[in-house]
Amino acid sequence: MAVTLYERLGGSDGIAKLVDDAVDAHLNNPLVQTRFANTKDIEHAKMMSREFFCAGAGGPESYTGRDMLTTHKGMNISEQEFIAVVDDILGAMDKNKVGDVEKKDVLAILYSLKGMIIRV
Ligand code: HEM
Repeated sequence: MAVTLYERLGGSDGIAKLVDDAVDAHLNNPLVQTRFANTKDIEHAKMMSREFFCAGAGGPESYTGRDMLTTHKGMNISEQEFIAVVDDILGAMDKNKVGDVEKKDVLAILYSLKGMIIRV
């Protein structure tokens, strides 16, 4: 049977680590840090991101947050900011020694969401 992306990323714990490292990178990335530093409840956003990532990778978790369009609507996020966030996530995967195949799978998922995030 095929192994899910969720399992290949180390399940719930592996994905929680990736989200923590990606958000830390956002907070240190001059291109996007103000976006996240101004977020009222960053712990909640992290929790939702974990659920989103787990559910999207084929895990048993349910996503209880807002859809991507509703979440990012009105933020006027640029292409450059989108790429910066994707780069931070790729960097978090490098840091955690995620394999190339998994990185490509995650990249394809992130890219597919751009129409719901950039300048909406
Ligand atoms: C690359 C794809 C992206 C994904 C998969 C994603 C996913 C998410 C998720 C799941 C949440 C939590 C939703 C909720 O609380 O209900 C969130 C919140 C947020 N996202 Fe994104 N996001 C992406 C890109 C971006 C970009 C490029 C920016 C800006 C540079 C951004 C800025 C934010 C901010 C500021 C919040 C917190 C909103 C709040 O709680 O008020 N996101 N995102």
